[in-house]
Amino acid sequence: MPLDAALEARLRAAGQGHLAEAVRAADPADAAGLLAQVEELDLELLRRLVDELVLAEPEAHDLGHIGPPETVPLPTDELGAARDAEAAAEGEAALREGRVAVVLLAGGQGTRLGFDGPKGDYPFGAVTGRTLFAHHAAKIAAVRARYGAALPWYVLTSPVNDADTRASFAASDWFGLDPASVRFVVQGTLPAVDRATGRVLLEAPGRLALSPDGHGGLLSALRRTGALDEMAGEGITTFFTFQVDNPLIRVADPVFLGHHLAAGADMSNLAVRKREPLEPVGVIAGIDGGTGVIEYSDLPDELAHARDDDGQLVLWAGNIATHCIEVAFAWELTEGGLRLPFHRAVKKVPYVTADGAEVRPDEPNAVKFETFIFDALPFAGASVTVEASREEQFSPIKNASGADSPESCRRDCNRLWAGWLEAAGVRVPRDTSGEPVDIEIDPRFALDPAELAARVGPDLVIDGPTALGPAPAGA
Ligand code: UTP
Repeated sequence: MPLDAALEARLRAAGQGHLAEAVRAADPADAAGLLAQVEELDLELLRRLVDELVLAEPEAHDLGHIGPPETVPLPTDELGAARDAEAAAEGEAALREGRVAVVLLAGGQGTRLGFDGPKGDYPFGAVTGRTLFAHHAAKIAAVRARYGAALPWYVLTSPVNDADTRASFAASDWFGLDPASVRFVVQGTLPAVDRATGRVLLEAPGRLALSPDGHGGLLSALRRTGALDEMAGEGITTFFTFQVDNPLIRVADPVFLGHHLAAGADMSNLAVRKREPLEPVGVIAGIDGGTGVIEYSDLPDELAHARDDDGQLVLWAGNIATHCIEVAFAWELTEGGLRLPFHRAVKKVPYVTADGAEVRPDEPNAVKFETFIFDALPFAGASVTVEASREEQFSPIKNASGADSPESCRRDCNRLWAGWLEAAGVRVPRDTSGEPVDIEIDPRFALDPAELAARVGPDLVIDGPTALGPAPAGA
């Protein structure tokens, strides 16, 4: 296929001349598609990323002065309870007045889980096989009903899973929600490059190896697609972001919203206590007088293990990528291009060679570029970090087995929901090791223990796996 000389010159200047050859060599059926992908590349950005993150020697960067973050702790006494009640009132008012939207981060590739399809379609429910999407939808429906809130739901997808995600929502009749209240936002992609040469890889002779640009891409996607305008037009000032793979999260929790709003924060975080010093989660820390997140891969062991006088981890605050963000702050961060730094991720990426041979590497061969939403924190004028109970709010499905897997998530859901039932006076059978039977509580039946206690009592008999509430759509 003929190639525009100016484009070829730009490709060569960017160190990507092999893409000109690939377009020329592509089958006529593939050539137009490949050319379109090549034309879409931001070659100036790519040049910079390759120079700084692939070809340059990685620099040991100074982490700055690190300490524990300032947090709103879990309530342990009346004072704490009163403080949270005050925050809840503020958060509830914002929900009632329609000032809040929720944004689900669901653009990832879910490579570790290895599930065929969008991660949100994963049937995590122990009893009904409810999917993550169905469960999040039920929570959103319950929050809307409780507060009479509009609470539009933005779902961040990526070109990898956008069509499948939309199809899944359509097939489940938008999980009973008004389709106009569910809005899809597609994030951008960046090419994976060879880690030795920085040349863009092709996943097939007519196709570049593209992957989502990281969850920081949420901000540019919200701006590019007009979602930020839409929010502003609807009087939304704040959005709550959460991850698709954590079914326990309290979606748009008024307490968290309230602390964020009361502090006049630009961006706030939810933190859980780390399970162990080297748990692979980022840590929220005080950095040079502000707040930031250090990725676990960047955290020196010595810092990860540091303990205070009480023997507690100094950097205890695990980041669970759940934030409240001001719409105005998202505007600021994306003015004239996204202001977040790029990170490199070294991964195994299958590719084809110039003569069309397919290679499935055994070792990481490629670099992907990603931005992270938490890198926005240092730009925030004010920020609040609120501690959340891990047992109540965090059990992600990341891996196919072991820690943070479907199995551990199912166990944590059972424990939590059995605890709610027992607090309501219901007897729940447990096995010899103390684990309860499989339980599911639909958020539309009860969003929290108090609501459950208002609905059920000691006369409820549970003698085997039990699901309470309406059957989830699409399960
Ligand atoms: P993770 O990186 O933990 O999970 O993303 P993943 O991408 O689903 O799975 P792996 O790493 O390939 O195994 C955390 C959250 O951020 C979203 C994911 O969908 C998940 O909810 N995410 C991640 C995006 O929305 N976009 C991205 O580019 C990356």
